[in-house]
Amino acid sequence: MRMPLAIMTAVVAIAVWLAASAAQTQPGAPSTPATDPASPTAPASGTAKPKPMVLETTIDSVMAERIARQLIAASPIADPGDVKARDEAAQRLAACNDLLDAAGNRILWGGFNPDQGYDPDAYRLEVNSRDDYFQLTELNPLVWTKLYLSTFMFPGGFEVREEGRFTVLSMVARFRGTLDAGEYPYPFWHSPNKWTAYMNTDRLVFVFSSGRLVSAMRVSPNPLSLQLIKREWDTHWTWTDEAGHPQPRVTLFSYVFSQDNPHVGGLDESYRALEERFREENCLTCHAPDNRSRLNDLVLLNYPNQALVARRTLVSVLEYNRMPPGNAMAHEPNGIQDDEVLAELIRLARDFERKADAAFAFERLKQSTAEAAPTPTPAARP
Ligand code: HEC
Repeated sequence: MRMPLAIMTAVVAIAVWLAASAAQTQPGAPSTPATDPASPTAPASGTAKPKPMVLETTIDSVMAERIARQLIAASPIADPGDVKARDEAAQRLAACNDLLDAAGNRILWGGFNPDQGYDPDAYRLEVNSRDDYFQLTELNPLVWTKLYLSTFMFPGGFEVREEGRFTVLSMVARFRGTLDAGEYPYPFWHSPNKWTAYMNTDRLVFVFSSGRLVSAMRVSPNPLSLQLIKREWDTHWTWTDEAGHPQPRVTLFSYVFSQDNPHVGGLDESYRALEERFREENCLTCHAPDNRSRLNDLVLLNYPNQALVARRTLVSVLEYNRMPPGNAMAHEPNGIQDDEVLAELIRLARDFERKADAAFAFERLKQSTAEAAPTPTPAARP
């Protein structure tokens, strides 16, 4: 069973209190765990020596460790080109509610730069930032889990540690590097540096703060020590395969939502109508993976499911007519200047928001019904 955060907090509080009182009653003695078998913290019978109670145990570290074990069970090592293994891992990862609950409405994802550290704010470009600064992309947590996280396999090693005000879970990870192009969230190889970094990932770090997972980052060795790995790119972010199916396949709503989700068809229609307008209004010149305008917390609008994270801000940004950004020097105002076009975009954005919410609500209901059922889904609760 899943332990709600409130109970988890209470357990940690009791553990810390017990450790503190043990230390008080036995001054000078090495810190010993509670041994009373009736104690709620007594180790289950048959387990090895109980670990000494550590005062610094935080809610974040308890949560991080639990998430680590779930990820290892959900995405074990397989052949890096095995699509089925990846799809199954994606399904199991999406059932890790601790992870999704911790992430909330959005997660920031990107490459880790030791010079910038763990604080996501350090990945926001400022006027004096160096040109080669790493930036992060903002994603819906379910989308990130199914599309991005599932491209990694976890052989088992992990570590939880404090880094300043953050709790960091660092997990040994291997990238699935030999899948077909349509199995990746977008052609990462549009940039040989990025592809090389992905291919050489040795860890993923998950950054927690105050009970929330705020970002996840890939760690790879210093790029200067690596040989560039190139994969050919024809400059297209999207394409159709020989059977006429839109690609990348994993960016479609059908990859994120269940097969029986009745809202997927309508949501796709809604997105396609919006996408056409995004093209006409040049939104995709900035909101695409190459991030030419170096947006902080980049939001991708050129893929159906990656656009989901923006469903609320999209409505408000259009209602305030803030996009595309104007140019003060060229005396160009913010926003769309044609009222009819703007009204139509607002209408489409609201429709997209409503249908996306319905699709997510269906998934949540389905998940909670599955949880209430006597046989829980395998691997989700190791
Ligand atoms: C010249 C580059 C550029 C273009 C073109 C552009 N945007 Fe943006 N967009 C930005 C920047 C920069 C931000 C972040 C700063 C801000 O919020 O003002 C942003 C933020 C946003 C956000 C909020 C993202 C969030 O944090 O959730 C949305 C939604 C958005 N843009 C939609 C659009 C739409 C729709 C269009 C086309 C009508 C568009 N943008 C065109 C640069 C651009």
